[in-house]
Amino acid sequence: MLSLSLNFLPSASVSGDKFMLYFTTIFIIGTILFVGTLGVGIYFAFKYKRKSDNDETPYIPHNYLVEFLSVFGISVWVAIFFIWGWRDYKDFISPKMDEYEINVIGQQWNWQIQYANGKTFTNELIVPVDRHIHLAMTSKDVLHSFFIPEFRVKMDTIPGQYTSLRFTPNKVGTYTIYCAEYCGTSHSKMIGKVYVLSQKDFQDWLDGVYQGELAQETKPSNQDSGNGMTLVEAGEHLYRSKTCYTCHTTNGDTLIGPSFKGLFGSEVELIGGTKILADENYIRESLMDPMKKVVKGFSPTMPTYRGMLTDTEINQIVAFIKAKR
Ligand code: CUA
Repeated sequence: MLSLSLNFLPSASVSGDKFMLYFTTIFIIGTILFVGTLGVGIYFAFKYKRKSDNDETPYIPHNYLVEFLSVFGISVWVAIFFIWGWRDYKDFISPKMDEYEINVIGQQWNWQIQYANGKTFTNELIVPVDRHIHLAMTSKDVLHSFFIPEFRVKMDTIPGQYTSLRFTPNKVGTYTIYCAEYCGTSHSKMIGKVYVLSQKDFQDWLDGVYQGELAQETKPSNQDSGNGMTLVEAGEHLYRSKTCYTCHTTNGDTLIGPSFKGLFGSEVELIGGTKILADENYIRESLMDPMKKVVKGFSPTMPTYRGMLTDTEINQIVAFIKAKR
């Protein structure tokens, strides 16, 4: 039964395999309970069938022991399954030390997939096998949902905010990306491909010397967002051209605003004493809505950059600040 369901619903990631295990376990237990309950019902229907007109239904009181054991047994099983699933789920969604990060921007009606080297692809995600992948995702217009059935992962992309998707592909191959949130006329055509390459092929692909079939299939999209620069370089370029440096240093010195050095991933104390984690969403919010969360010891003087930065540029600035951690 296990192999049957695996062929029916192919899985190509660590979480995908785990989900297959949960699914198969629940399916087997559900089948046993279903057949068992129904079987006993049918058996009793024959065994206790009224034999003559004088038959009277006996008075059967309830049985505390049976009731207790069945309720207790089911509760224990549900608790075990919850803990089992919760532990794995927590592991799937938590950041890993060595994860490979890729930016995804959903838009009507395609996926822009952007690598640290600045290259952007439309509807094509290329990842190395057996590595933790982190997709930092956002949307340019409306809600979309990034869905890779073979990896058993799905996450909404939301305008004005970052969401994360984490997975570890464990089979080389080609899989499909769907948009799983109705987003307008061509929602059903918002389909992409995931290419899982061996680690060596992936490195070759990054270096631009990959010779496999992908080389012809995958071409950079027309939208050249980085002018040949890496994300960090493009972010640094923005840091200079938007004159962020007049307030924010990258060497730890304090000017009008906090320094970017060591900022990303650190805990920041705000005016009022609240502490928050400086992550992608915090940086994004501080660019769009600088008065909302002002760091303690600084005055609220930063102008908003709402409408002045594209999602790609925000990704570049985030990459730049991240590089200074
Ligand atoms: Cu994007 Cu549906």
